[in-house]
Amino acid sequence: MKASINDPIMEFKVLRNSPCSVLFLVLVVSSLSLLFILLSSNPSATIIEPKQQSIGNTDQNSSNFSSSIAQPPIDEDEDEVECDLFAGRWVRDAARPVYTNSTCTMMPSARNCAAHGKGMQHALWRWKPDGCELQRFDPVDFLSTVRGKKMAFVGDSLARNQMESLLCLLSQAATATPEDAYNGYSKFQTWHYPSHDFTLLFIWAEFLVEAKERTDANGTGTDAFDLHLDRVSPVWAEKLPELHYLIISAGNWFIRKNYLYDDGNLIGCVLCNNNDEDVKDLGLGYAVRRAFRTSLEHISRCRDCDDNLVTLLRTFSSNHFEDGGWFDGRCNRTEPLSEVEVRSAAPQRHWDFRTVQVEEMGRMKEGSEREGKGRMEVLDVTKAMMLRADGHPGASSLATRSDCLHWCLPGPVDMWNDVLLATLKKKRKRPLL
Ligand SMILES: *[C@@H]1O[C@H](CO)[C@@H](O)[C@H](O)[C@H]1NC(C)=O
Ligand SMILES: *[C@@H]1O[C@H](CO)[C@@H](O)[C@H](O)[C@H]1NC(C)=O
Ligand SMILES: *[C@@H]1O[C@H](CO)[C@@H](O)[C@H](O)[C@H]1NC(C)=O
Ligand SMILES: *[C@@H]1O[C@H](CO)[C@@H](O)[C@H](O)[C@H]1NC(C)=O
Ligand SMILES: *[C@@H]1O[C@H](CO)[C@@H](O)[C@H](O)[C@H]1NC(C)=O
Repeated sequence: MKASINDPIMEFKVLRNSPCSVLFLVLVVSSLSLLFILLSSNPSATIIEPKQQSIGNTDQNSSNFSSSIAQPPIDEDEDEVECDLFAGRWVRDAARPVYTNSTCTMMPSARNCAAHGKGMQHALWRWKPDGCELQRFDPVDFLSTVRGKKMAFVGDSLARNQMESLLCLLSQAATATPEDAYNGYSKFQTWHYPSHDFTLLFIWAEFLVEAKERTDANGTGTDAFDLHLDRVSPVWAEKLPELHYLIISAGNWFIRKNYLYDDGNLIGCVLCNNNDEDVKDLGLGYAVRRAFRTSLEHISRCRDCDDNLVTLLRTFSSNHFEDGGWFDGRCNRTEPLSEVEVRSAAPQRHWDFRTVQVEEMGRMKEGSEREGKGRMEVLDVTKAMMLRADGHPGASSLATRSDCLHWCLPGPVDMWNDVLLATLKKKRKRPLL
């Protein structure tokens, strides 16, 4: 059988126990600790500057040293300091997980890693932005923020993974009723929270644009798709006018042989070296950029859409197959990777996908803010997730092969909803007219 979820390519190349990287890591960690000790526990510092009573602040200070990107806080408002939620690190948190497989009854069994022997270690971490604290997800707060509204996750099984996490997080406060026949893996799902008249949708559109799998002479799928880069997929476009919140994402399905069309004409392909048709490989970045540009332009030009439509783009989520690909790779780590490991191991194209997505969103955001319509933001989770090689079902997946693509529940994917809520609650840059 063909892989329904792609990527027969070895993606993550972590140097297992490489003496060099371990030594480097030890050096970095020990010099940071030394610096930290020197700065934070020097008694004379307290004496010289008695006004700086930042005893409870050590976390913030130490994070400063490990931060690679300086993020000056921008004061927007007296009670709101903006901070980059996406530059940070994972810290241990014994107060997790927020939910378990017994408190979240709608958890799909393939994400219920604890039930299949993975344990809970991967869920005992929280994301710590360098410049602030990310609030622990508050389901009551979330539901009152979205009261009376409709939210859709549009994308592939990872978009569904975020919705699954959200369902579990919200299940701690309210009960959702599925409106469709629900088997956990449906490509279209609708959930309703009668207590808050809130509706949650999942819409399967793995490329965002129109796509059709090529078949061979016998009508069997070939696992290669025809992508119409200039046409949004109608499955989500037709729902757009009903929505108040849209979270779009895509990426992993592009990493396979695909054929690219513009205005109905074959213009190129990706991952197609030495194939039968005489078309040029235009590169994954090209395909991803066009698909997102087409989608975002469609949204910003949507006349029937709600004026306050909030569009969030969740950036690329890395898989972590090691020592092989989708069929034979594995991911059996028990701790997050270090930044050093990620830098040497993450495939460049994962980061390139994220860069393209951020660029395309930036481009549209300017346009849409000029017109004063809606709001567009990025949920830039790529770096955070690159670190979490330990957060996939791996061998605890129900399939015969390791699942190093999706995320366990509870687990690091819950952070996507922490940043979702934080982003929804951010005040608008300027009031709508
Ligand atoms: C820790 O950070 C605070 C500001 O967040 C600063 O006032 C204080 O001096 C820092 N302490 C050390 C020891 O660096
Ligand atoms: C973090 O480091 C930068 C540059 O070294 C410094 O300007 C800033 O004050 C530091 N912030 C904190 C919270 O210590
Ligand atoms: C929940 O997880 C525990 C391990 O933490 C496991 O023993 C149990 O079978 C799971 N229960 C269900 C209902 O999946
Ligand atoms: C189509 O099916 C026939 C008969 O089962 C088989 O011999 C042939 O190889 C198949 N062609 C392709 C392209 O798979
Ligand atoms: C992961 O699997 C490899 C190969 O089977 C093994 O050598 C390694 O010890 C495993 N790591 C853990 C943490 O189980």
